[in-house]
Amino acid sequence: MTAEVRVRPATTADGPAIHALETASFSDPWTLESIRSMIAQPLALATVAEQEGRIVGYCIAWAIGREAELVNLCVASARRGAGVGGRLLDDLLATLGDRGGATVFLEVRDSNEAAQALYRGRGFLATGRRKAYYRHPAEDAVIMRRAGAPSPGAD
Ligand SMILES: CC(C)(COP(=O)(O)OP(=O)(O)OC[C@H]1O[C@@H](n2cnc3c(N)ncnc32)[C@H](O)[C@@H]1OP(=O)(O)O)[C@@H](O)C(=O)NCCC(=O)NCCS
Repeated sequence: MTAEVRVRPATTADGPAIHALETASFSDPWTLESIRSMIAQPLALATVAEQEGRIVGYCIAWAIGREAELVNLCVASARRGAGVGGRLLDDLLATLGDRGGATVFLEVRDSNEAAQALYRGRGFLATGRRKAYYRHPAEDAVIMRRAGAPSPGAD
């Protein structure tokens, strides 16, 4: 039986565990300091997924008014393909939904098929591209957008 996954708000004390996943998964990772300061920002929505007492994934987003940006989503390589990334993203979308349903933007590497499939499955559409946005290696970013709920009072 698969151990239960629990999603909870991240705290700055989770910084080292998040940073370990970040450096294992990305070729141009954030520093521990930038992860900690991001989590501490009042506008940040940061969560971790825990399984058997270990942090196996995290999600960091910003929400400002009716717009949000998914900044980073990551699952430990040994735990991928088991629904953890989907849980983290669903939790973020539910939180945004409770706040009135912001439109969500994100950037993803052109070659990152797994992430793009996850995002498409949750209603994101590719809306553009940023040339050579990423380093190590240089690569275009695909911009994806998920429409939020209509503004109250909109026609
Ligand atoms: C992208 C990532 C977060 C997905 O997390 P995950 O826990 O493996 O995803 P899930 O098991 O919840 O899968 C959800 C959906 O993603 C898609 N998906 C996941 N892995 C996939 C793969 N290898 N190939 C194609 N689609 C894939 C599927 O559409 C899947 O839908 P399903 O539930 O109907 O099967 C994970 O692969 C990861 O951490 N990658 C490295 C970091 C990264 O690239 N983050 C994104 C930065 S923009």
